[in-house]
Amino acid sequence: MPKIVFRDTGKIIEGVEAVKEFLEKYGITYERWGVERLPENLRKNYDLSKEEQEAIIQAYKEELDRLKKEKGYITEDIVVLSEKTPNLDDLMAKFKREHHHTDDEVRFVVDGSGVFPVKIDGQIVEIHVGAGDLIVVPAGARHWFELDENKKIKCIRVFKTPAGWEAIYNENEKATMND
Ligand SMILES: [Fe+2]
Repeated sequence: MPKIVFRDTGKIIEGVEAVKEFLEKYGITYERWGVERLPENLRKNYDLSKEEQEAIIQAYKEELDRLKKEKGYITEDIVVLSEKTPNLDDLMAKFKREHHHTDDEVRFVVDGSGVFPVKIDGQIVEIHVGAGDLIVVPAGARHWFELDENKKIKCIRVFKTPAGWEAIYNENEKATMND
């Protein structure tokens, strides 16, 4: 179940509808797609062949096509992070640095879980997502990513161009993002 935690006050918002309603106010999309349609091996396997990756993407074709049409995304792929990922600690240290992108950051969680802390009105708001959750962090929103105690996540990423999801660490560069 998705959950929002306000890091300063500890206030919590839980559940699909409440989380969706809160995030919508700040331009962050949340949708529940679920994982019931996926066979166990596609859910639990973190060492996926090209065919298995494609099978996961095909299982969500309807939702992905709708999202791509609505928001102008072009392509998608699968990303996995687990204790088997080489240099996981270095990668996590990199993901933990506050940044934004010139395109939206789109993640559908196939398995595992993680936290997207986002800065909203100067507050750090943690968005906790797990299997079956889709989140769209809009272009320009300052955020970062953390694994939780599960230490693994497998996601479908949806994007326009690789350049658009490069991390921009300096907040002041936001002013020029629409040039
Ligand atoms: Fe990001």
